[in-house]
Amino acid sequence: MNAVTLPLPSIPATSGIASFPRDQWYMAGFGSELSDKPVGRTFLNDKVVMFRTADGQVAALEDRCCHRTLPLSCGTLETTGLRCGYHGMLYAPDGQCLEIPGQDRVPAKARVRSYHLVEKNQLLWIWMPAQEGGAPTREAPDYPWHDHPDYKWGGGHYHYRAPWQLIHDNLMDLSHLGYVHLKTIGGNARLHMNAPMKVTAEGDTVKVVRHMPGSVPPPTYLAAWPFGAACDRWQEIEFHVSHLRIWTGAALPGTASLEDPQRHGFHMRGLHGITPETQETCHYFWSMSSNQHPDMPDTSQEVVDQTRFTFDEDRLVIEAQWENIRAFGPRAEWIDIHVDVGANRARRIVQRLSGQA
Ligand code: FES
Ligand SMILES: [Fe+2]
Repeated sequence: MNAVTLPLPSIPATSGIASFPRDQWYMAGFGSELSDKPVGRTFLNDKVVMFRTADGQVAALEDRCCHRTLPLSCGTLETTGLRCGYHGMLYAPDGQCLEIPGQDRVPAKARVRSYHLVEKNQLLWIWMPAQEGGAPTREAPDYPWHDHPDYKWGGGHYHYRAPWQLIHDNLMDLSHLGYVHLKTIGGNARLHMNAPMKVTAEGDTVKVVRHMPGSVPPPTYLAAWPFGAACDRWQEIEFHVSHLRIWTGAALPGTASLEDPQRHGFHMRGLHGITPETQETCHYFWSMSSNQHPDMPDTSQEVVDQTRFTFDEDRLVIEAQWENIRAFGPRAEWIDIHVDVGANRARRIVQRLSGQA
């Protein structure tokens, strides 16, 4: 497929590793996905196979047998490693071939590239190095809400036929809630659009904060918390190159300071791990953690289900948008409006870290 020239400066027209920020931890999936079978996925144009070893560790290799290139994800797991499903070469978690059936000698060059993969807070993070074999220069991100006693969570994985940055744009500007998500977390479109938005940037992160006191509680909130006709609502979005943390929620009117990070109320903490697959496709791993009111039925599963429903709505919009960007090509010039400030900052960070600045 030929890349199209786009009016989006940070969607590159060429392929190659320089096009994405490297030397980053990206989300690769959920720990629960690795059990008795290898899982093959492409990250930043690299085909990778992930698996769990007999002692419970997770490992990732390039998804190719060094003999005749069958994907190792077509193979099977054994106590000592991953066996290719064609002629049976066996690979250790570090990529070294341990055994060639019917042959005594295993040449040293019988090996494939390995990746650093870690399992943390029930998430899988993969280090995508700038140079082959490059070791991580920092720890994988922490995500404490998955292990926090006040929260329950669920999540999922979308494969998107759209470039990753269109999802950043969508998440960095939640004013679309009032138009795209009216059935769940939408609320009043005009209130969203008019709410003052504070955008701050520090290093490689951007924060967008919107406080909306006196909001109409949307259906998801009403089911989880005893709100009446109004609530004090907030949206706090934190952009990191490989993922976004979005804390939304609400308190009963006038009962909590919206500046207090420990404030009580109904909390929905979303994790959005957006990992490029190719220039035009990406993975979207998400989870939603929420708390329960002691006098209300536990709606955490409903919150996850409704979140999935809202993300289905986003996907329709974003994939239709991308199809149209492709159809119009360079004629589809973009103008910016006031809601784009946060998204544009995030785009500049991605551009800089991709070496395109
Ligand atoms: S292709 Fe893997 S052993 Fe032949
Ligand atoms: Fe959305």
